[in-house]
Amino acid sequence: MAAVARGARTNLGLLVLLAIAFLTGWLAFAFATAPSRWSLIIHATSGFAIIALLPWKSMIARRGMRRAQPARWASIMFGLLVVVSLAAGLLQSTGIALSIGPLSAMDFHVGGAIAAVPFAIWHVAARRVRLRPADMSRRAALRGGAVLAGAAAAYAMSEVVVRASALPGAARRFTGSYEAGSRDPDQLPVSSWMFDPVPAIDTSNWSLRTPGRTWTYEQLYAFDDRMTATLDCTGGFYSTQDWAGVRVDRLIGDASGASIRVVSHTGYDRRFALPSASKLLLATRIGGRPLDPGHGFPVRLVAADQLGFWWVKWVVAIEVDDVPHWWQAPFPLQ
Ligand code: HEM
Repeated sequence: MAAVARGARTNLGLLVLLAIAFLTGWLAFAFATAPSRWSLIIHATSGFAIIALLPWKSMIARRGMRRAQPARWASIMFGLLVVVSLAAGLLQSTGIALSIGPLSAMDFHVGGAIAAVPFAIWHVAARRVRLRPADMSRRAALRGGAVLAGAAAAYAMSEVVVRASALPGAARRFTGSYEAGSRDPDQLPVSSWMFDPVPAIDTSNWSLRTPGRTWTYEQLYAFDDRMTATLDCTGGFYSTQDWAGVRVDRLIGDASGASIRVVSHTGYDRRFALPSASKLLLATRIGGRPLDPGHGFPVRLVAADQLGFWWVKWVVAIEVDDVPHWWQAPFPLQ
């Protein structure tokens, strides 16, 4: 009986920890500033707590395997995906392997976690956790607290080990990203949020639409507003480059509204609060040279202090309207 109660608590604990890890992972992706680090500290602690509970979970799973369970494969799949996500998270944070074949460790990490979600929902519905009052006792709370404290200590220790053994992870940014090709545009990786292909744009029949007028490439290229900014990509790299182009506040003039919508040739778009216009640069150059197609030719947005998916490439329109800037999916859906 006691074993069953402990099993229920372990299952519930795992579920809560998985939810925390999932949410804080996305929260970290929402920022390229300090909140990202805080989210990742909670993220890593919950990840280590999941690892700490795995021996208990494997005992519960083995007990379950002895019984005939419907759709057992789905439980196995769920477990496998979580383990893949955990392992890839550790490969990324230690820097032991940042890519596996053509995919990055982050692709496996986030991909594994997303793929696990439907299995997690099924698992919770099909194998209900039945808690009793005794499971919520002071003792149980103390045990939970001890697991969390142990996980936080293990995480802190892992950071010490990464540094002491000079693993590549010691040099990663607070967002978990690794430096790539700073101030060397040829070495800047090409990446897009999801599946946008690189378009071939001919500037002789291209123009940028802004409130009240359109601009040719030559007109935009004549501006020389400069900004040094770090592109930090959810794929796990960052790169500091010298960008030049035109500040967005110059392009929108005195247009009034609540937000700025920056639209790509591919249909991809992101909204920004109107007062941030002077901090946004529509870049025509990187390192003193025109952009290349992979990096957004003819013009791309530079949104310092925001993760790469805000840096809209191949921009064709900058609109100002009354839609609030927060009225958009937190992460692009295309
Ligand atoms: C099943 C859900 C997840 C689990 C159990 C999990 C667990 C982990 C673990 C154990 C690490 C290594 C921590 C470290 O040593 O620093 C990690 C790293 C990381 N995870 Fe997750 N994760 C999950 C989902 C996600 C999601 C959905 C995202 C983003 C959308 C994400 C973003 C990250 C990032 C950016 C790192 C690198 C942190 C660093 O290097 O400091 N994770 N994760």
